[in-house]
Amino acid sequence: MIAVETPGGAYEVRIAPGLLGEAAAHCAPFLRKREAVIVTDANVAAHWRAPVEASFAGAGIATHWFVLPAGEASKSWGQLGALLEWLLERGVERGDAILALGGGMVGDLTGLAASLLKRGCRFVQLPTTLLAQVDSSVGGKTAVNLGSGKNLVGAFHQPALVLADLSALDTLPPRELRAGYAEVVKYGVLGDAEFFAWCEANGAALLAGDPAALEYAVAYSVAAKARIVAADERETTGARALLNLGHTFGHALEAQTGFSDRLLHGEAVALGMVLAARFSARRGLMAEADAERIAAHLAAVGLPTELSQLSLDGTGEALAAHMLHDKKMDAGALPFVLLRGIGRAYLDKSVALADVARFLDTELS
Ligand SMILES: NC(=O)c1ccc[n+]([C@@H]2O[C@H](COP(=O)([O-])OP(=O)(O)OC[C@H]3O[C@@H](n4cnc5c(N)ncnc54)[C@H](O)[C@@H]3O)[C@@H](O)[C@H]2O)c1
Ligand SMILES: [Zn+2]
Repeated sequence: MIAVETPGGAYEVRIAPGLLGEAAAHCAPFLRKREAVIVTDANVAAHWRAPVEASFAGAGIATHWFVLPAGEASKSWGQLGALLEWLLERGVERGDAILALGGGMVGDLTGLAASLLKRGCRFVQLPTTLLAQVDSSVGGKTAVNLGSGKNLVGAFHQPALVLADLSALDTLPPRELRAGYAEVVKYGVLGDAEFFAWCEANGAALLAGDPAALEYAVAYSVAAKARIVAADERETTGARALLNLGHTFGHALEAQTGFSDRLLHGEAVALGMVLAARFSARRGLMAEADAERIAAHLAAVGLPTELSQLSLDGTGEALAAHMLHDKKMDAGALPFVLLRGIGRAYLDKSVALADVARFLDTELS
């Protein structure tokens, strides 16, 4: 169990195999009625609705399900409205907790609905992807996408409990597991060279499903995120901003590939981290060999590390232009997370987008 303590709420993250089968016992203290409302998506429901339903039925608690179509497109303003209407029809009140069973898509949408319903009710995260277990279910960022961009409407709203069932990862497609692993490596690259070395030694075993490696990596990542979020819940001091390592480059790549299956979020983060490291090396901040060490590990586990692999049609300038729409833009300047070495990320506010565009041109060719 890892405790998360923020001004916006304190809660536990429980990490173990088999938690979904015991969901009722863990969630009951947060339910005021003998019923539970659960939001999920169709893929997750196919594998995990039955054991969760059985757990609640065994405890005499009825479940009501809101099942979204799987995919990022469901993290929308329209689905948010439909979910809120459904929750009201079900008679959900302020003191009730809404359960989010799924990956980051389900968690972000449900969290935002919970923050809005009757000016805020509680919610429990039951993350079923590696990305959601190590990143999105912890920290209280919730959002939906608008036509003009991702995560543009959202709120900080901390969950009341997070149950990370490691067994849920057994049914996750390997490509999704690998994409989530990029966010695990991120914690090493940004703040802990020793953990990065652990990833080099154990990443392949983790991706092959080794239970001990998975448990260690999830617990390490949640503890790292909990520390950062406790220090800077609303990303005001710069500490939390370090979690955006690889994300400014990554978002530009996601935008250029139309936020499609061509490049999953975690894949974009992997390549984005390599670009941040190479850009840092180009500026003389870190050794080129260290940047290539990061690239070598990510490539070894099958994550993308070369811009030229993507066959993008855009130029460096077109990619940099996507960064202008970044949420982190602050009075015309875009803070970048750069590296002084592996485990030594910092926030640099002096990066000129023209330099980034030139750098990307060399990486594209
Ligand atoms: N709130 C945050 O701090 C934060 C952080 C990072 C990412 N995010 C958001 O998270 C989202 C991405 O999350 P994600 O990668 O979990 O995507 P996702 O929720 O779309 O899940 C990926 C795919 O895996 C399927 N799936 C989920 N669990 C499964 C399981 N156990 N077995 C089989 N299939 C399963 C889903 O149906 C989907 O097709 C994005 O919207 C991103 O913006 C939020
Ligand atoms: Zn991310």
